[in-house]
Amino acid sequence: MILKDKVAIVTGASRGIGEAIARKFCQEGAGVMLCSRSADSVAAIAESLSNESGNAKSVQADISNKADIEALVDSTLTEFARVDILVNNAGITRDALFMRMKDDDWDTVLQTNLTGTAYCMRAVIRPMMRQRGGRIINISSVVGVAGNAGQANYAASKAGIIGLTKSVAREVGSRGITVNAITPGFITTDMTEKISEAAQQKMLEMIPAGSFGTPADVAETALFLASDAARYITGQAVQVDGGMFM
Ligand SMILES: NC(=O)c1ccc[n+]([C@@H]2O[C@H](COP(=O)([O-])OP(=O)(O)OC[C@H]3O[C@@H](n4cnc5c(N)ncnc54)[C@H](OP(=O)(O)O)[C@@H]3O)[C@@H](O)[C@H]2O)c1
Repeated sequence: MILKDKVAIVTGASRGIGEAIARKFCQEGAGVMLCSRSADSVAAIAESLSNESGNAKSVQADISNKADIEALVDSTLTEFARVDILVNNAGITRDALFMRMKDDDWDTVLQTNLTGTAYCMRAVIRPMMRQRGGRIINISSVVGVAGNAGQANYAASKAGIIGLTKSVAREVGSRGITVNAITPGFITTDMTEKISEAAQQKMLEMIPAGSFGTPADVAETALFLASDAARYITGQAVQVDGGMFM
């Protein structure tokens, strides 16, 4: 098992990509702490992973709230006594054309996607330094590389995650901690269900692989970046998009 004896935190693990990453990590032997804002849905996923003989626990946490993040890391250390891997997956969209975007939509998306990611990283780096190693994987988006009309707030938050990833990778590399990002393209989840059929068809035409991605496609890349096989990879943004943007 690739992650035997490792402990991982996966944010936004109640559905979609986060759930798939938590499941994959459990299957590979990690103890996994799942979080999301809704206590019941994330507890149900943790229970189903435990029933599949995984070692999963859950805690309610809103990553836009610093106190919740500290409680998340504290509960992980209490339950599992260490933390080796952090996957910053929780993210939201509040789409609107830039000139019509409400200040609250700008602030909430940046606070959740970018500031929440930064605070989660800060909260685990100290225990990782004590353990002399760790893996941080931040879920960005191809939209952060290419931009997208109607998603200026989301694209700015996801581009910010790439700069954050590269900067912190430079700071903690000598401590055995790698920091990488994944930039998924169009992955079929609740988040993409909101997109109209016509817009989905247009996107499909841009994908050389000829199909949308699945949460499992992102989970496989997260597993590789979390594994010993990726020990010499840091500061990278790995695109998982079927060739949508090259
Ligand atoms: N799907 C795609 O095509 C795609 C493409 C590129 C990047 N991504 C990124 O991949 C990540 C996962 O996307 P997804 O498609 O799986 O989204 P999703 O189906 O909407 O799931 C989002 C997850 O994040 C949790 N969450 C949202 N806000 C949170 C907060 N403030 N604190 C804690 N948890 C929170 C949600 O649970 P609660 O609502 O219960 O909190 C849920 O578990 C996101 O960062 C997204 O931007 C997705």
